[in-house]
Amino acid sequence: MEKEFNLFVCCMLKMNERIVVSSPGKLILAGEHAVVYGKRALVTSIGLRLYMEFIEDTNKPTKTIEIDFQDTNRKYSIDIDCLKDSNPIEVQAICFIYKHFQMNNHIQLNIRSDIPIGAGLGSSAAFSVCLVGCFYLRTNTQMDRNEINQLAYQVECLFHGTPSGIDNTISTYGQSLVYSRQMRTHTDFRLKNLAIIDTGIPKSTKRMVELVRSFVDNNQQQAELVLNDIEKCVDTLIEQPDKIKDIFQQNQKLLKQLGVSNVEIDEITEKLHEHHLAGKITGAGGGGCLIALVDSLTKQQLVDLFKENRIKEVYFVECGVEGLRQEEKFR
Ligand code: PMV
Repeated sequence: MEKEFNLFVCCMLKMNERIVVSSPGKLILAGEHAVVYGKRALVTSIGLRLYMEFIEDTNKPTKTIEIDFQDTNRKYSIDIDCLKDSNPIEVQAICFIYKHFQMNNHIQLNIRSDIPIGAGLGSSAAFSVCLVGCFYLRTNTQMDRNEINQLAYQVECLFHGTPSGIDNTISTYGQSLVYSRQMRTHTDFRLKNLAIIDTGIPKSTKRMVELVRSFVDNNQQQAELVLNDIEKCVDTLIEQPDKIKDIFQQNQKLLKQLGVSNVEIDEITEKLHEHHLAGKITGAGGGGCLIALVDSLTKQQLVDLFKENRIKEVYFVECGVEGLRQEEKFR
């Protein structure tokens, strides 16, 4: 009797497999864009996370996916045999992973995120890593981060073309990393008084990467110097972290030369400079977020300082947090 009961419990569990994972957003401290060309960049994970709940139900119609993006209140019901090209890219990414893992059963995916979308803080990478993480843990008991990271990179390519892989790597492994296309080294890089300033200006990583590509193609010698100088900023930051303010300023000047700054960003960085603070774009630029070393200024003092710049939000976040992890609860 007991044996039969155990078998029944086992079957019920298989019928309703439930996995919850989360992974963090990120800040590129120095080296964005140059990293696309094989240079080193310094990146840290942040205490804003995306959460994903995966529920498999063998009692519901096969080859179907219900998706609930809870922050934007968008729901999708997908029949995997009748896919439409008009589906948003994140839905296409889910279908790609469903097929990759040769799933057949009904899946419910619930997604919620603390990471602002499209602001350069790694929301798409956290989504890609959690997506792969859920399906991976459905079929494996151990978490192989290398395998998850490689597949998450393929999902990132759906979103961004041919990204450097820095975003999915930091979201998978967490902590802080010196990253290039050839290597990945963990580093214990700690920062005090780092604020994120969200300009609220929408940006497209793909468009910014293309803009830099055309600058590099049309100005090869000058571009090589700029990309090398950006890498020098990264190396100096690692070797002499006390020089961080100068490095932020220098790196921002170089990003401007690549063409990814704009009037609004220039005004913010100039104002920081006037107040003996320092800031730079983090991520692709053209909008999105800046990072700034703000000494002892509070969030309110920063909001007041930038009241004429129409910024959207200021955040203070924890840096160097845990990467992809399994969670007990979704909410
Ligand atoms: O998508 P974002 O804003 O986090 O920027 C990614 C960083 C880039 O260096 C601009 C692109 C890349 O693939 O590394």
